[in-house]
Order: sequence, then structure tokens, then C-alpha cells
Amino acid sequence: EGKRVPEWFSFPEVIEELRRGYPPRHRQGFTIFCTGLSGAGKSTIARVLYARFLEMGGRPVTLLDGDIVRRNLSSELGFSKEHRDINVRRIGFVASEITKNRGIAICAPIAPYAATRRQIRQLIENYGGFVEVFVSTPLDVCEQRDRKGLYAKARAGLIKGFTGIDDPYEPPEAPEVMIDTTSLTPDEAAQEVLLFLERSGFIK
Ligand code: PPS
Repeated sequence: EGKRVPEWFSFPEVIEELRRGYPPRHRQGFTIFCTGLSGAGKSTIARVLYARFLEMGGRPVTLLDGDIVRRNLSSELGFSKEHRDINVRRIGFVASEITKNRGIAICAPIAPYAATRRQIRQLIENYGGFVEVFVSTPLDVCEQRDRKGLYAKARAGLIKGFTGIDDPYEPPEAPEVMIDTTSLTPDEAAQEVLLFLERSGFIK
């Protein structure tokens, strides 16, 4: 653990500077890490935030949505615990590089395992902000929406190991932001994240 990359790769000077408060937060990079069930609204919030950050200008913005990553970076992976962990760690690694370079990374995987999310947080907090956004929309709402028809398939036994149905989701215990999208518009949901970023000095 924590030894997946060689010592020199962790850029101790960068970490030391950040510890001493340089650069100020509004010029540091940060990662927005949305986690939650399928259909909870992660991608929608992520896309609104992406557009907002682009409008603001300043820092470069990268969107690492679950589906996009699975198509491009993790196309060989399935949904076992091992494969989900590899997938989520890849996202975390890319986000850590972006954060190190003072950019903004927006991630939106299910990321069902608390321990894996914790590892990513530890990695990224060395380089800038890590904002865990728990998209806490309850299962029954996600299932009612069933935008992709996957819950129906999982209930019918056509998909095995579907998160929330017959595969675990471990909710975050202390997320920076918690958003239930049951009765919020995407703009309102994204606003919660922006307010947190303002309060904590990452945006002005
Ligand atoms: S994970 O657990 O973080 O690696 O998952 P992620 O990469 O975000 O992929 C989740 C999307 O894949 C579709 N899908 C499944 N989800 C959960 N469980 C199973 N078994 C599964 N099979 C396919 C599903 O559309 C998820 O999409 P989102 O965007 O989350 O709704």
C-alpha cells in the first residue's frame, strides 16, 4: 500500500510546498470525486460542474466519468470487486496527476468500496484538494428512474452483481458534500459543491 509508485514519483518537494501553504488554495489543483449508486445523478452533476469550471477559466478541467473511463481506460475490466478496485484506482491515479499539475479533475464512478476511496483520498490530498461528493439518492429512486434499464435487468437476474441489488455499496462516512438528487435540479445539486469549494477557498 502506498508503494505502488517509486519514491521519486511522489514529488516530495511539491508535497512539502503544499504543506507550507504554497500555492494558496485558489491556485491549487483539486479533485471532485462523486460516488453513489448507478442512476444517482453522478454524471449529471459532474457535467454541470465541468461546464461551470470551464466558464470560470483559470485551471484546466478534466472529466473522468464512469462510462467514459470504462470505454477508454478500463475497457478490459468487468464488475468483480477486483476489477472495480482497479478501475477506481486508475481514475484516482489520473486525478492525482491532474491535481498535482494544479488542474481540476471531476470523477464520477460508483466507487462502491470505502477502503479504495480512502486510498485515493490519501494520494490526492498530498497534491491539493479532495472533495468527496456522496450522491446519496436512495436505491428506490434510482431504480424508479432506471434510465438505462439496468435495474430491471438486475432484478430479472440478467445482470449479476449489480451495485445495490446483489453487490455492495459502502456509503461514505464523512463526505465533504452529500447530495440527494430526489428533489433537486442538476443546477441546484452542482451549486452545493460550488458553495463548498468557495467556503473552503478552492474557488473565489
Ligand atoms: S465501478 O464500480 O466504480 O467500477 O463502476 P463504474 O465504472 O462507475 O461503472 C458503473 C456503470 O456501469 C454500468 N454497469 C454496472 N454498474 C454496477 N454494477 C454492475 N454489475 C454493472 N454492470 C454495468 C452502469 O451503467 C453504471 O453506470 P452509472 O453511470 O453509474 O449509472
